[in-house]
Amino acid sequence: MAESMQGLHRTCRCAEVTKEMKGKEIVLMGWVQKARDKGGIIFVDLRDRSGIMQLIFENGSIDADGFAKAGKLRSEFVIAVTGVVEERGGAVNKNLATGEIELRVNSLRVLSEAEVPPFPIEEKCKTKDEIRLKYRYLDLRRPDIQKNIMLKSKVMMLTRQFFAKEGFMEIETPMLGKSTPEGARDYLVPSRVHPGHFYGLPQSPQLYKQLLMCSGYDRYIQIARCFRDEDLRADRQPEFTQIDMELSFVDVDDVIDVNERFLAYLFKEVLDVEVKLPIQRITWQEAMDRFGSDKPDMRFGMELHDVSDVVRNCGFSVFTSALENGGSVRGINAEGQGAMPRKKIDKLVEFAKGYGAKGLAYIAIAEDGTRKSSFAKFMTEGEMDALVAAMDGKPGDLLLFAADKKKLVYDVLGALRLELAKQMDLLDKNEYRFVWVTEFPLLEWSEEENRFTAMHHPFTMLMEEDLPLLDTDPGKVRAKAYDIVLNGNEIGGGSVRIHQDDIQERMFKELGFTKEEAYEQFGFLLDAFKYGVPPHAGLAYGLDRLVMLMAKVDSIRDVIAFPKVKDASCLMTQSPSVVSEAQLKELDLEVRPEEDEN
Ligand code: AMO
Ligand code: AMP
Repeated sequence: MAESMQGLHRTCRCAEVTKEMKGKEIVLMGWVQKARDKGGIIFVDLRDRSGIMQLIFENGSIDADGFAKAGKLRSEFVIAVTGVVEERGGAVNKNLATGEIELRVNSLRVLSEAEVPPFPIEEKCKTKDEIRLKYRYLDLRRPDIQKNIMLKSKVMMLTRQFFAKEGFMEIETPMLGKSTPEGARDYLVPSRVHPGHFYGLPQSPQLYKQLLMCSGYDRYIQIARCFRDEDLRADRQPEFTQIDMELSFVDVDDVIDVNERFLAYLFKEVLDVEVKLPIQRITWQEAMDRFGSDKPDMRFGMELHDVSDVVRNCGFSVFTSALENGGSVRGINAEGQGAMPRKKIDKLVEFAKGYGAKGLAYIAIAEDGTRKSSFAKFMTEGEMDALVAAMDGKPGDLLLFAADKKKLVYDVLGALRLELAKQMDLLDKNEYRFVWVTEFPLLEWSEEENRFTAMHHPFTMLMEEDLPLLDTDPGKVRAKAYDIVLNGNEIGGGSVRIHQDDIQERMFKELGFTKEEAYEQFGFLLDAFKYGVPPHAGLAYGLDRLVMLMAKVDSIRDVIAFPKVKDASCLMTQSPSVVSEAQLKELDLEVRPEEDEN
């Protein structure tokens, strides 16, 4: 029994019905959330993406056929009803936008029947992710997911509006292109016309947007799909969306200025949250020293203390030998955690080891000032006093220390700081703390490749005053690169680009590219620069990450309509999949038979 909707026009969505419409006849269409048959009267909750409206079917208000039909309604049937808006006869439902009204139905059409869904279509679903994602089209009906998807749509709409007003134009760049240097693996697309040749799907529109600057489109924006073949995490998908932009005749402050105003506008419009401008800026070095992370969560303190100088000559060899090997000893003060049971501290030690620490030393200070410590026996009372003082340790505090190479100490304590904040319930999803992290190192030493790699990408400009360091101490050169960080998430990043060819050449040399190799990869860009290139800079947001935080959810999967799972597959469409022999042949490709495991 599937009826046509011919002759009917939906008046509005469920939650758009208001008390002021009392007495009016309207037409609603949607899905049956639930139906309750109370004998002579049937209540149905009708759902669409706006919300829920209560329908009343009563023998007499609707003819006998209609009433009989209503008796057969089940969850997820799609129906159309005509009825009159009235005030609720029964109790008002304060949880519903339409809680004070109901629709007395006088005619019903069943547009589509529905099988029992594999899980209930409701908020806060406890069904396993695998099932939800297999039936994503049903999952997408759930109000909490619908809210996220609608929020994302609004963010995209406001983004376009804001940047259009600021004189940006949206320009599309190719999906089928040449691989871009963002550091992940490329997704490749074989060419049929050129056997053995491949397109690379863009990791970002980086090279194209720089070319657009050469072509004079001085303010470009694009909501761009990007593809990166890398290990997935809660905040990473193989294909994701950037709000990507590039500006000509600008420096760091210009990019930051327009983006701060954008963020303030967006958060005000969408969440009614005031972002205080200017947004705080800290240098990369400061971020590492204070928070052990280049994307610090600024919602809480618990900053790192460098105690290297305090323990340099103490009796604890774990500390002194780390320092003798050029390392560092740093600690964090988990205030008020001094009574943490030993078992829980041991778990923290294991947590630290998961980040490569050899151990985690601690001092627990009881309320009466007595101390318990894993290394007290190696130190004099005076040395302990000095260490506690350097950590601002007070009665009731727990002090945790890592001693190792500086980078490892940052990683361990940075992660520990977040873990403790979680345990201590310091992270409030309703609080939004932005910070710009600036002056990133230009280069990063790669142990694997035994050479420097670009921390951002090879076109990132260095700070002019660091130019001489390129010859003497390249690792110390700072870049004109910036990240925008929100609550410990890198939501965007960008840089001023190199537009002088002598500097670009120096950069390629530093990265170990020969001139030929550089030309092979980026020749078209280098050529373009020969014909008049404006100074330019840009930035890209991870749209999914931004919306994830605005929606207060924990995974970008919850803000992407059709996401992939950890192994980069789609459970609903079963992609990737094998293709036919004929398709392979056309592409001149052959799949090597899987090797026998024995
Ligand atoms: P970057 O590589 O920092 O810069 O990317 C910009 C932003 O994109 C988001 N992002 C991701 N989101 C989801 N899944 C992923 N796999 C993923 N990878 C990155 C992050 C990140 O901050 N072309 C430069 C920008 C520029 O210099 O203008 C770029 O792509 O939020
Ligand atoms: P040990 O003498 O190895 O038993 O270590 C004494 C204490 O120091 C234990 O609490 C260890 O967890 C801790 N420890 C060991 N190595 C390190 C390190 N590299 N950094 C911080 N603490 C450590």
